[in-house]
Amino acid sequence: MCGIVGYIGEKQALPIIIDALKRLEYRGYDSAGVAVLVDGSVEIIKTAGKIRALEELLSSRSISTTMGVGHTRWATHGEPSTANAHPHCDCSGRVAIAHNGIIENYLSLREELQAKGHRFTSETDTEVIAHLVEENLRDGNLESALRSAIRRLQGSYAIVAMNQEEPERLLVARKDSPLVIGLSEGANFVASDIPAVLPYTRRVYILEDEDIGIVTREGITLSNEGGDPVSREEFAVTWDAEEAEKGGYEHFMLKEIHEIPRAIRDTMRTRVTDDNRLNLEEIKLSEEEIRSLDRIFIIACGTAYYAGCVGKSIFERLLRIPVEVDIASEFRYRNPIFSENSLAIIISQSGETADTIAAMREARRGGVKALGIVNAIGSSIYREADCIIPTWAGPEICVASTKAYTSQLIALYLIALHFAQVRGRLSVEEVACLLAEMKHLPEQVQRIFDREDKIAALAEQEELKQCRDFFFLGRGLDYSASLEGALKLKEISYIHSEAAAAGELKHGPLALITKGMPVMAICVQQELRGKMLSNIKEVAARGAHIIGLVKESDSETEKAVAEVIRIPENDELFMPVLTIIPTYLLTYYLSKALGREIDQPRNLAKSVTVE
Ligand code: AGP
Repeated sequence: MCGIVGYIGEKQALPIIIDALKRLEYRGYDSAGVAVLVDGSVEIIKTAGKIRALEELLSSRSISTTMGVGHTRWATHGEPSTANAHPHCDCSGRVAIAHNGIIENYLSLREELQAKGHRFTSETDTEVIAHLVEENLRDGNLESALRSAIRRLQGSYAIVAMNQEEPERLLVARKDSPLVIGLSEGANFVASDIPAVLPYTRRVYILEDEDIGIVTREGITLSNEGGDPVSREEFAVTWDAEEAEKGGYEHFMLKEIHEIPRAIRDTMRTRVTDDNRLNLEEIKLSEEEIRSLDRIFIIACGTAYYAGCVGKSIFERLLRIPVEVDIASEFRYRNPIFSENSLAIIISQSGETADTIAAMREARRGGVKALGIVNAIGSSIYREADCIIPTWAGPEICVASTKAYTSQLIALYLIALHFAQVRGRLSVEEVACLLAEMKHLPEQVQRIFDREDKIAALAEQEELKQCRDFFFLGRGLDYSASLEGALKLKEISYIHSEAAAAGELKHGPLALITKGMPVMAICVQQELRGKMLSNIKEVAARGAHIIGLVKESDSETEKAVAEVIRIPENDELFMPVLTIIPTYLLTYYLSKALGREIDQPRNLAKSVTVE
């Protein structure tokens, strides 16, 4: 997620802006820039790379200014580059804009503005805002111009704008992307997150959706998009800087779990229309290529691989073609057999996992096109794959992947539905019904968060805190989904945990079930529920301490388990997005109860860039 900072006051603005941007570095970024007023003109200094590269640029200048805007960019549209770095300006160079979010209709706006003679200098969605403001600035001041511009935008935004003809004010606006105002005597601050302003003030306003604000040295005036005045309650920040980076959560892991609803929404943005039609033009495969597909390889490591295991079930159900899912480090050495019409789907949060990159190159050497599902824009896989579906989960700081996993599932669903529609396996109406169901996922994840206290209490049970082994059981899609749960628990709590296909118990794993051993039984696939119930009884008979994940409407399974966690009901295809949430929360609270490191587990790295 991009970092935004604005300052207007009596002190030199640049040192404050640079210091504040550094306090947002934890969010991840790939370029940085500032816009300042120098001798009555807007000047933009920006560069690809880190803030120190920006500081080097600034060190050769002696800029004196008491107002400015700074930005660190996490690329979504347009690769990391100086041209794509923020802030962006209009044709006249009078207006500078910094933005965080995704403008869904930027392509049509860009075409419209270019037809009117506007000249674009970047590939970003953000730049359309600057030219829209310019288009409207002819009618008056920056506030009215920004208000008019915003009415044309679809998507999410946190905007800070400045106009060289109005040197006494910054304009701010937000919708679905955070923005706070820091208040102090004779100076005021704007930031995308609280840590940026903490050294200067603990008095903040947290803007709400559709707020538009005029920030001056004296204060802030807020109104809604219709121009009606609004007031926001001043909030006194009690967190320290480290807590503030985590949004008040104790660990990035919990913060990122709670970002899952937004990450799902963002991953669906621009790809699902309001009337539930698919828009996946970014998949650069012709309909002929999609219709002729006869084999799909899904290749990844770790959590991304487990997303691929769910993907295999989904693709085979919807497309009825064989899908091979491979751990990348195995794929690259097994001399895979490619057919004439194969496709390789490469999944990676970082886009830099060495084995996954090598496996992708192996497939492409075999003449197979690579479709990447990647979170890090501009990464190696992002650049080398034949086409990309970004997951737009935002930077994932915790080593344990959570919001990236659920966004990877969303991306896999969208691709599978697109392919099913093109191949005539599903009608446009059937796809629309499924997409309507998918749109309920964010609020259903939120409903599971409403039961977080119950899950946290489970983590305090001695059977869990004392256990040495933890089993996850499932059948069908529930088994595919349980694999990620087992990985998450082991890598954060250090408890040995494994997922077993419930029907496989009698072929060996049952020997490990002992009295009091915790077993998470995922039981939301209706057609397999009866058989799953038998397996639950098998492990209950050996004294296992069973936690059942069941649909809200299931009143039978709970009689066979020690604890039950209810899951809101969605189409069974999409249930893996929901059933993983309790495991993420349980893993977090159990690891916390055990005093584990959580964000930086021993022996592990966020991106495994070596074999
Ligand atoms: C998952 O929690 C782990 N951090 C790890 O398994 C990770 O998923 C794996 O290393 C793959 O990383 P990637 O998605 O960045 O390629």
